[in-house]
Amino acid sequence: MRKLSSLLCTLALIAGGPAAAAGINIEGLARTCNNCHGINGVSVGQSMPSIGGLSEAYLKQILMQWKSGERFSASMGRLVKGYSDEELAAIAGYYARLPWVPVAQNTDARRVAHGKDAVERCVTCHGDTGSEPDDDVTPKLNGQWAQYMELELMKYRDDAVKMTHKKMRTNARKLDEEGLKSAPEFFASQK
Ligand code: HEC
Ligand code: HEC
Repeated sequence: MRKLSSLLCTLALIAGGPAAAAGINIEGLARTCNNCHGINGVSVGQSMPSIGGLSEAYLKQILMQWKSGERFSASMGRLVKGYSDEELAAIAGYYARLPWVPVAQNTDARRVAHGKDAVERCVTCHGDTGSEPDDDVTPKLNGQWAQYMELELMKYRDDAVKMTHKKMRTNARKLDEEGLKSAPEFFASQK
């Protein structure tokens, strides 16, 4: 009997990693997230971000910031309060293991061209196309939804909105009105 249970435990570890070991039904939890964020966390748009394939450190940090209330959100803050820290960590690990899928979307060619110049100072951290962030708490932006990114930039620009990252605030503020639209369109159009 003991042998069987340790075998089952090993199988559970292989199938679901630490989440299964802690008795967390990760597929069940993810179903709720996927209702809004899309299958495998690939969003169908437009103000809803894709989350599958973002880094574990970024996902975990942002979920915990919402839970503690130190980060503003329209809907996520209320939602994450229903999960334990262990569940949020397992969810972060689950989405980080999924592939990042840049979403094809309608972008304006003139805006994308302007955006390429507007993102000059952004690419040092996010990478030339937004696909190669310089550290693991910087999100990928290539093929993320343009409208979502514009909304996030507006939050970083607004002092009244609680956002934790100072440098991102400074950089978002440096964009002019056209850059605020064209920078997201540039990253959105990247593979
Ligand atoms: C009712 C719809 C809804 C559900 C369900 C939902 N989200 Fe969200 N999520 C949003 C919205 C809207 C945003 C944009 C930020 C905001 O306004 O809160 C967002 C933003 C995010 C982001 C930020 C993405 C980024 O690129 O920075 C992450 C991460 C995230 N959600 C994870 C989750 C996880 C994990 C779950 C399941 C536990 C979940 N969400 C469930 C609506 C939802
Ligand atoms: C010093 C490094 C750095 C620079 C420069 C920078 N970013 Fe960021 N960016 C980050 C980090 C780190 C985050 C996550 C911040 C957080 O947790 O709120 C972020 C978040 C974002 C987000 C939100 C993405 C999401 O999935 O929620 C967008 C959009 C974005 N950056 C666009 C830009 C643009 C456009 C510029 C140039 C005007 C820029 N960034 C410059 C580091 C940087």
